[in-house]
Amino acid sequence: MVVMIKVDRDIVDRKVEHIETVLKEDVSYHISTLFNDITLIHDAVPELSLHKIDTKINFLNREFNVPILIDSMTGGAKIAEKINKNLALAAYEANIPISCGSQRSGLKHRNLEYTYRVMRDVSKDLFIIGNMGLQQLIKDPIDIAIRAIEMIDADALAIHLNPLQEAVQLKGDVDFEGGLKAIEKITSQISVPIIVKETGAGISGTVAKKLEAAGISAINVSGAGGTSWSAVEIIRLRNKGSNYRDNVASVFWDWGIPTAASLIEVLNSTFLPVISSGGIRNGLDIAKSLALGASLCGIAHPFLSRAMESSESVIELIDTYTDQLKIAMLLTGSENVRELLKADIVITGKLIDWVRYRGIDVEEVRRKTYEKLYG
Ligand SMILES: Cc1cc2nc3c(=O)[nH]c(=O)nc-3n(C[C@H](O)[C@H](O)[C@H](O)COP(=O)(O)O)c2cc1C
Repeated sequence: MVVMIKVDRDIVDRKVEHIETVLKEDVSYHISTLFNDITLIHDAVPELSLHKIDTKINFLNREFNVPILIDSMTGGAKIAEKINKNLALAAYEANIPISCGSQRSGLKHRNLEYTYRVMRDVSKDLFIIGNMGLQQLIKDPIDIAIRAIEMIDADALAIHLNPLQEAVQLKGDVDFEGGLKAIEKITSQISVPIIVKETGAGISGTVAKKLEAAGISAINVSGAGGTSWSAVEIIRLRNKGSNYRDNVASVFWDWGIPTAASLIEVLNSTFLPVISSGGIRNGLDIAKSLALGASLCGIAHPFLSRAMESSESVIELIDTYTDQLKIAMLLTGSENVRELLKADIVITGKLIDWVRYRGIDVEEVRRKTYEKLYG
């Protein structure tokens, strides 16, 4: 008798639909990351050479050439093989870290593991972050975390939080009880660094404190202003001929904590290294994130269409961001990333309203972060 493995087409199809929706439709937040409320003060006599600007950073005990992380996107569907391979080749070439997409379908279907492993095949030295949803980890955290790490020989594991997406998605998994306990279990028993990331709705200072107490190694804020997962789910269902979630979900299109606000909140509340992500769209956003105290900047959506083309196209975009970052560093008189954290900045508009309301002194946060990162 031939025993057939039943493939859960739902997860695999959903992955493909997510990629198609993100590539073809406008799924951005209408609200801003609030990086436009930050001005880096121009230095008209920088006394530096653009050629000597140093963008190297340290993150989780590894040195990288540029503070860019290719953030979690895909895996678990045939189309992901090419995307992940091109992203990984570019990350290796640029010496930057990369995070894979949720490994849920790879764990369910061993015949899809290769769509993630193509990343590790690029090099044993590439810094790869695995990815699992907290919802999938709650029931059996240790076993699932170990299997995800082993699948790609991961250097770190990102646990993603997506309550917004689950809540607006058709048949989403909406039982969130036991999440923090599962994270605590994983950090106490798993040796690789555990990063917790949102998926576009941001992390508050209060939540960051709870995550730090649960023993994690870093936070990726993934704030609002970039890819909106309510938007992705609304449009994905519309394209399937259903407006089932429109009435409910559309009011949550712009739900979340803007990235710049989330970054400041998390830096103010914890001693953890923080990844700025969610709507990072150029080297100036990266420079502003570093000036606030981010250790790294995660970028997802802009790399997707590039990865559909080639690894060279991905590298071209990394180079553009790097050139923009270097010019911003020159024009603030910052020879390296450490100096950027001391550069003069001004915050106005909604972001200054946000931090004042929350009682946060941004210059104090920057001083504290400088001490933490550079002693
Ligand atoms: C096509 C696509 C798929 C994604 N899949 C995942 C995922 O599997 N796991 C995860 O943690 N985040 C996932 N994300 C969220 C991103 O990692 C990131 O947090 C979010 O898109 C905000 O960044 P961006 O504005 O640069 O796209 C995905 C994003 C995109 C665009």
